[in-house]
Amino acid sequence: MKAKFGSKIGLVAATVGSAVGLGNIWRFPAEAQANGGAAFLLLYIACVFLLGIPVMVSEFALGRGGQSDAVGSFKNLGASKPWWSVGALAVLASYMILCFYMVVAGWTFEYLWQSITGSLYDGIDSATSAPFAAKMNGFIADGWNASINTYIVLALNIGILLFGVRKGIERLSNIMMPLLFILLLVFCGVALTLDRASDGVEFFLNPDFSKITPRVALNALGQAFFSLSLGMGILITYASYYPPTTILTRTALTVSLLDMLVAILMGMIIFPAVMTFNLTGEGLEGASLVFITLPEVFTHMPGTQLWSILFFLLLMVAALTSTISISEVSIAFLQDRFKLSRVKAVLMAMLPLILFSTICAYSQSDSFSDIRIAGMTIFDTLDFLATNICLPIGSIFLCIYVGWFAPKGFLYRELTNDGDVTSHVFNVLLFIVRYVAPILIGLILIGVFI
Ligand code: ALA
Repeated sequence: MKAKFGSKIGLVAATVGSAVGLGNIWRFPAEAQANGGAAFLLLYIACVFLLGIPVMVSEFALGRGGQSDAVGSFKNLGASKPWWSVGALAVLASYMILCFYMVVAGWTFEYLWQSITGSLYDGIDSATSAPFAAKMNGFIADGWNASINTYIVLALNIGILLFGVRKGIERLSNIMMPLLFILLLVFCGVALTLDRASDGVEFFLNPDFSKITPRVALNALGQAFFSLSLGMGILITYASYYPPTTILTRTALTVSLLDMLVAILMGMIIFPAVMTFNLTGEGLEGASLVFITLPEVFTHMPGTQLWSILFFLLLMVAALTSTISISEVSIAFLQDRFKLSRVKAVLMAMLPLILFSTICAYSQSDSFSDIRIAGMTIFDTLDFLATNICLPIGSIFLCIYVGWFAPKGFLYRELTNDGDVTSHVFNVLLFIVRYVAPILIGLILIGVFI
């Protein structure tokens, strides 16, 4: 008998725990800054509602109907090889994401450690412009330093995955996630009182439509899917633990709204701070934005170190619940497909990450950041390929399968819990899954490459 999530709250919390992570807190603000602020936000919200929620419902239906992992669920529904390759693509995408995600989780660990020891705030002179940028850029520039932190996080993951304390971590995250949310609300309150807060809010909420390009649309789509954990096989696996009474559409809506709220809150914290402390320009944007901006906000709050410890601790937990759920995709795949023991599967999935994450960490360092593929570092290339190519392409085929090729009446049965509840949105969802999502995602991808 398959294990089921204990309660309604528990299953939503576990799914939110997987979705909310570095994607919302680290990746979203950096993408919003690079892609025109409010114009990006608008496209991101549109992508969440129009494409993200329907794709999420499809993944839930597939997992609960198929009762297995990303590949097995397709197979259990009788899908032929080309279709379950969609599951294999999700495994590949999730693994590519792990390679650079672990590095950012390592940065988080370093900042937690430096917050605890207080060294993050040592020698900070508020008269110097962007003092935390020098710290962060100096830290990333040293590939070895960044790698060591990545190994610590990797070891933590392996420990959690091997010693069966995953349930404990998830329970911990059920307490920590609401706390993170409250903390972000407090920071938002502080950020909005900063000198140039209104300029930041203007950048984040007042769209300049001329900023919308096919590339910005693809970046917004990728961000929405990354943040909602779509196309990675995670939600298929999670939904296989859902009881038959779970209302899939309601769960998808709740998870998506909470996930989006965290991202929007981050924008409302980061951009007022970016404007007030003048954190734009060379070396201040991109991947390190959160690590440069938030310490700056903390120095403007009484009890700087305490806020800093609390934030990076909660971010570490959020990152861990996400890395664990992303890792589980490859581990479950190895266990099911190659009949490996749990220990072997964990080690086979996680140990190669030592090499891959080292490459990602070093690709951001001074010595290797000149190595570029189409203008991007190896870290950014992996992120682009996984997030902007694999996740959308996988989702197109997933929608085509669920909309057209899954067993007759399958989506209806899953949406109505076998006729127990009425689904007012079934026809709309079916239309989106069959036509809108595959065509629109396809057009966005084509738009970038022609
Ligand atoms: N959805 C996860 C995150 O946003 C991967 O971090």
